[in-house]
Amino acid sequence: MKAARRAVAGRPSIGAPARQTLVAAARAARRHAHAPYSHFRVGAAILDDQDRVHVGCNVENVSYGLTVCAERNAIAAAVVGGARRIRAIAVVTSTKPPATPCGACRQVLAEFGDEQTLVVLASPTGTATNHRLGALLPESFRLRPT
Ligand code: THU
Repeated sequence: MKAARRAVAGRPSIGAPARQTLVAAARAARRHAHAPYSHFRVGAAILDDQDRVHVGCNVENVSYGLTVCAERNAIAAAVVGGARRIRAIAVVTSTKPPATPCGACRQVLAEFGDEQTLVVLASPTGTATNHRLGALLPESFRLRPT
């Protein structure tokens, strides 16, 4: 592993200003959530490897199983925007503490990130906590060993 990619345990891989920008983008995206069934609004913002931000919100459907989570919509926006790797994601929910991404979203995030990918969990107005994708999804499914 290259030294530049080696993370110091517990230290966020992006600076505080970038994290604040990402959380603000996720909060703004959450305002567009389409959640008439659960009333649980989620916003997500991804920082890609070119330092660009891509956002998503949850989009529910009357056929409930067709609902797509905010994180996966943000991934889709990142991919269509040309991103191939992600550095960080912020997810905003109103629960206390803020919710963690569902298992499906963790696996989709693992496709584009790595164990050190930063996952910032934030509330709509309050604090944010930093997590690593590798801690949220240890031993993610891969076709071959990395
Ligand atoms: N949801 C997300 O957007 N992300 C998650 O990681 C978990 C759940 C959405 C799906 C649904 O619209 C609502 O939250 C309640 O499950």
